[in-house]
Amino acid sequence: MSTAISQTAYNYKVVRQFAVMTVIWGVIGMGLGVFIASQLVWPELNFGLEWTSFGRLRPLHTNAVIFAFGGCALMATSFYVVQRTSQVRLISDSLAAFVFWGWQAVIVLAVITLPLGYTSTKEYAELEWPIDILLGIVWVAYAVVFFGTIVKRKTKHIYVGNWFFGAFILVTALLHIVNSAAVPVSLFKSYSAYSGATDAMIQWWYGHNAVGFFLTTGFLGMMYYFVPKQAERPIYSYRLSIVHFWALITLYIWAGPHHLHYTALPDWAQSLGMAMSIILLAPSWGGMINGMMSLSGAWHKLRTDPILRFLVVSLAFYGMSTFEGPMMAIKTVNALSHYTDWTIGHVHAGALGWVAMISIGALYHMLPKVYGREQMHSIALINVHFWLATIGTVLYIASMWVNGITQGLMWRAVNEDGTLTYSFVEALEASHPGYVVRMIGGAFFATGMLFMAYNTFRTVRAAKPAEYDAAAQIPVGVAH
Ligand code: HEM
Ligand code: HEM
Repeated sequence: MSTAISQTAYNYKVVRQFAVMTVIWGVIGMGLGVFIASQLVWPELNFGLEWTSFGRLRPLHTNAVIFAFGGCALMATSFYVVQRTSQVRLISDSLAAFVFWGWQAVIVLAVITLPLGYTSTKEYAELEWPIDILLGIVWVAYAVVFFGTIVKRKTKHIYVGNWFFGAFILVTALLHIVNSAAVPVSLFKSYSAYSGATDAMIQWWYGHNAVGFFLTTGFLGMMYYFVPKQAERPIYSYRLSIVHFWALITLYIWAGPHHLHYTALPDWAQSLGMAMSIILLAPSWGGMINGMMSLSGAWHKLRTDPILRFLVVSLAFYGMSTFEGPMMAIKTVNALSHYTDWTIGHVHAGALGWVAMISIGALYHMLPKVYGREQMHSIALINVHFWLATIGTVLYIASMWVNGITQGLMWRAVNEDGTLTYSFVEALEASHPGYVVRMIGGAFFATGMLFMAYNTFRTVRAAKPAEYDAAAQIPVGVAH
């Protein structure tokens, strides 16, 4: 521990707040996922009420898992990583507190308005304009705290994890502001500033880059800090991480049109999106390999360390989903996969396997550090969680592959006279077993989150203030 670091007092309060909320929103968002998955098995669970119908709860699920669970995980880890790698405290405690409470307010407003049916109808950007404005203000405050801390840093260079977090913060701001431009007609209703194919293009430029920058780049920032830390090895190649960074952010921004194959979007734009998506495989795998190879000389730790297992398996799922994505972006493949459950399986290979698992691993590493404990309350429970999450993800993805390909093939099957071989309902009936398996897989994953909540609760409650330097908010005796 260098003198410079030991004299630094970090703001761990905001990290702790975001970390705990990550777990809570994770339980709620994934619980909702299991509930809507059950609705697809037993439609009666819609209860005949508009507020609890699949159409209203689905966007609540996506907002809760992406922005509440994922967002809190990103904010917790970015505030933690930026302080430790810059060796300074966040530039402003009050602004950091505003980011925390503002972000929770946005989420609570989403929880209220989405079931009531207030929606802009744009996927992953459903919130109506007053909430969008609040979100924009909170995001700018987040950017000020993060970049302000980087400016104030005591280290010479900016650690690569912060480059990824920085790009995620900047591009998310840009996406949100451009895609949310709308003409309000009342407090709860607005119309997009764009129309027709332009609106669709801007929406999927946003949608794909929400995946690319929110669900990927931010979590890569997490990866670049927590994988080497937990493995106690340096990052495999610093040079590769720089190439990875620039290649990834240069390519992602062009790939949006792969969501609009065979639509009114000009054909050249669709082909460009396809080509860029295929090239995107290279930087994606470059990053995955960089993370995986950081375990060189530390592979044996996987036998005993379930936290490292979470991190490594998340990288494996990242590699898998970023191989699958470019394949699905090929127009002829997309002709089969689009509108089917294959897309849903791909989404959750990334969402459960990559986003959730890397966050869970990072949190298990970080929680004891910010609460001044040696380790989590129970390592055995982390192990149980790991298996529930892995088996749950595999059940989810495999059932959606089977469903997706079945649906794609049944929809396109034609008789000799040109009529359709199967009705839509027949394809739906064939999908039912897959929906049951997906629900079970989801329940596995969500049960793992309950174990995590219990483990977190016990770890937090067990913290002994006497061992903890509250003023500096740095655990005494814990290396940082
Ligand atoms: C190289 C990387 C990737 C490429 C090229 C890619 C490509 C694709 C393609 C072609 C689709 C289907 C579009 C359609 O038919 O409608 C899709 C959907 C999707 N992907 Fe990926 N993907 C990649 C990585 C990821 C990752 C890592 C995640 C999650 C963390 C992810 C999340 C999603 C989501 C949420 C959708 C569904 C969007 C929607 O229709 O609502 N993707 N992706
Ligand atoms: C217990 C875990 C989960 C379960 C059971 C679950 C279940 C579901 C279900 C049933 C749908 C609707 C599928 C459809 O319309 O046919 C869905 C959509 C979606 N979920 Fe999840 N989910 C879970 C976790 C997550 C997580 C952790 C994330 C993100 C980090 C996520 C992101 C999404 C997204 C982006 C969509 C929309 C996909 C699209 O439009 O193509 N889910 N989920």
